Amino acid sequence: MNENVLSSRLQAIASYLPKGAYFADIGSDHAYLPVVVCRLDPSARAIAGELNDGPYQSALAHVRAFNLSDQIEVIKGDGLTVLGDRSIKQIVIAGMGGGLIRTILDQGKEKLAGIKRLILQPNVEARLVRDWLVKHNFCLIDETILKEDGHIYEILVAEPKTANKQVEYTEQELLFGPILSKQKNTAFYHKWKSEQKKRLRILAEMQYAKQIDREKINQFEKELAWINEVLKDE
Ligand SMILES: C[S@@+](CC[C@H](N)C(=O)[O-])C[C@H]1O[C@@H](n2cnc3c(N)ncnc32)[C@H](O)[C@@H]1O
Repeated sequence: MNENVLSSRLQAIASYLPKGAYFADIGSDHAYLPVVVCRLDPSARAIAGELNDGPYQSALAHVRAFNLSDQIEVIKGDGLTVLGDRSIKQIVIAGMGGGLIRTILDQGKEKLAGIKRLILQPNVEARLVRDWLVKHNFCLIDETILKEDGHIYEILVAEPKTANKQVEYTEQELLFGPILSKQKNTAFYHKWKSEQKKRLRILAEMQYAKQIDREKINQFEKELAWINEVLKDE
């Protein structure tokens, strides 16, 4: 990795951090994101949280190699426990499944009181994350979908909802993203065409299953109809 250049995915995530951010990157692996953000913005501070020893050691070595230990603390620990009582303002959780991101948020919800912004990038099942956000008084302020190296990535940006703001999303908005489904860029169409194919294949296979799971078939058919609808105007 070029020392000041992030992948398009991490660059898009970094663009949601304000100048002078004090953020936690949970599941930081090599600490690529905090290192580049803090190199480019000396007023930024971060903690790089990692559960596993290998990635934790890589993060530690990378931060030390760039002499950034004054700006970045590398902490070994599970999910949001690494925040301790620090007054972190933004949290990034990227490059994991939506189910794991939801679990990390849920298990650490008492740490979210002073948080101004969550920047979440689920590799799959973004709807689980959107659903968790709505149920826990966050609202989506932006979403990005992009393609890099043949993969499609969704980035969800959420902030605590203001007292008088009512946020409810339909099942379709949870699946497609309330903002992404209004913008419908090329990556969006690409993702949902591939999901359409996947569901058609699974539905065809289900017809031959020894035991027909009617509930699952109904769910897939319902989602397929929604997908056909969002792809209609392509
Ligand atoms: C695929 S990497 C993503 C790295 C980086 N965030 C990115 O987006 O490029 C996921 C990282 O999350 C770490 N991880 C998984 N579960 C975690 C948890 N509960 N708390 C902290 N880190 C976790 C893994 O060890 C791994 O290094």
